[in-house]
Amino acid sequence: MLRFFASNRSFAKIARQTGLRSTAYKYSTTKKTKPTFHEVSDASEESHTGQFINKVSKPYTVTTYARPNLVLTHGKGSYIYDLENRKYIDFTAGIAVTCLGHSNEGITEILKDQSEKLIHCSNLYYNLPAGELASKLIHKTKEHNGLNDASRVFLCNSGTEANEAALKFARKYGKVKGGDSKTEFITFANSFHGRSMGALSVTPNPKYQSPFVPLIPGIHVAEPNNIESVKNSMSSEKTCGVIIEPIQGEGGVNSMDETFLVELRKLCNDHDVLLIYDEIQCGLGRSGKLWAHSYLPNETHPDIVTMAKALGNGFPIGATMITEKVENVLSVGDHGTTYGGNPLGARIGSFVVDEITKEPFLVNINEKSAKFVAKLNQIAETNPDKVLKVKGKGLLLGLQFAENIDINKIVEKCRENGLLIITAGMNTIRFVPALNIPDEAIDDGLAILEHCIEQ
Ligand SMILES: Cc1ncc(COP(=O)(O)O)c(C=O)c1O
Repeated sequence: MLRFFASNRSFAKIARQTGLRSTAYKYSTTKKTKPTFHEVSDASEESHTGQFINKVSKPYTVTTYARPNLVLTHGKGSYIYDLENRKYIDFTAGIAVTCLGHSNEGITEILKDQSEKLIHCSNLYYNLPAGELASKLIHKTKEHNGLNDASRVFLCNSGTEANEAALKFARKYGKVKGGDSKTEFITFANSFHGRSMGALSVTPNPKYQSPFVPLIPGIHVAEPNNIESVKNSMSSEKTCGVIIEPIQGEGGVNSMDETFLVELRKLCNDHDVLLIYDEIQCGLGRSGKLWAHSYLPNETHPDIVTMAKALGNGFPIGATMITEKVENVLSVGDHGTTYGGNPLGARIGSFVVDEITKEPFLVNINEKSAKFVAKLNQIAETNPDKVLKVKGKGLLLGLQFAENIDINKIVEKCRENGLLIITAGMNTIRFVPALNIPDEAIDDGLAILEHCIEQ
């Protein structure tokens, strides 16, 4: 059986803090060899989980998320545990964030050490870790065939903020080069760039945008992998930037064709438009190279790359990396942040970049990816009426299902069997595990998935 007892201490502590009763849970444990799919439903309303959610958490939390009855308490590597002491294989990594796994010892050490030195000092002054992270990102990016003109980094706290900075930098560039009319952007159908007003304006999903219109004007939505649709929206006079995910994450794990990206670069050059690659989900090793754009020839690289998620392994941090061409239009005071580049986050970011670029980390990602893809292909072949295709690159993978299949039911079944997975657009189940996920967790997790699809 896949479920294990976890320490009851964390629950007991929360129960004490919240005044809930503490009971020892009686899930049997058998030494694990192969999963045997003993299904356990999500915690009931009467359980401590149910009581905590309904009495302590939900009534006081803004209604922005739909969540199952699951309260996560701790994790180690690619395994995560809930308040009911259930153990799960984690194929979500907090939505492509915990790239080195949960409770990574190196990060724990940095958190302790740096918190005893300096957590925050604002951008009124320089600090060592922020400078070190900025220079490391530039040098490692060049070593790994990334952004060939990489020159400067702006540090912030999330993916949305990294994109917000990118959009502002492109606006500034457009205004400097073409005056007040060169302020428009091109984005792509099914892309996701964040929820602030700027990032939301280039995230053309009616579900996210409709409640908040009017958004920023002058945004054109082109079709991914369709250069004609970009040509129709671009003009030298009006367009200042194009923002694109080289592999769309939320939108359904959709890869952009290399030929399309090459043509897109050329088009941007012809119209003096900045090209922004949002690598917040697909960057920092997830594609199997340091950057998704590391697969492309140098001359086709973008002008701006945004990153976040994996950079902090769960600590909130984001960054916008630019070329000298962009740096040249920026002045003191154009942008800023209180927390961005704080010594604690920056030191964690440096550690993560070191780990990802240390041999053979990237090689291993590709081996793990091959293992995933082989099994996903086999699942697709044995379920041709349900599964349409396997998508993605590295450890940003997707399984697209036929329209009549309710993938939320599969996600639920998997959870009940001890596997956490997430969905993406186009009826796709998305796999974004820790980049160092052990082979055993891949095998066990995909066995659970196969079982739940076949049911
Ligand atoms: C490609 C992409 N861009 C931007 C974001 C927004 O990042 P954050 O949630 O850190 O603000 C996300 C988050 O899922 C993303 O996947």
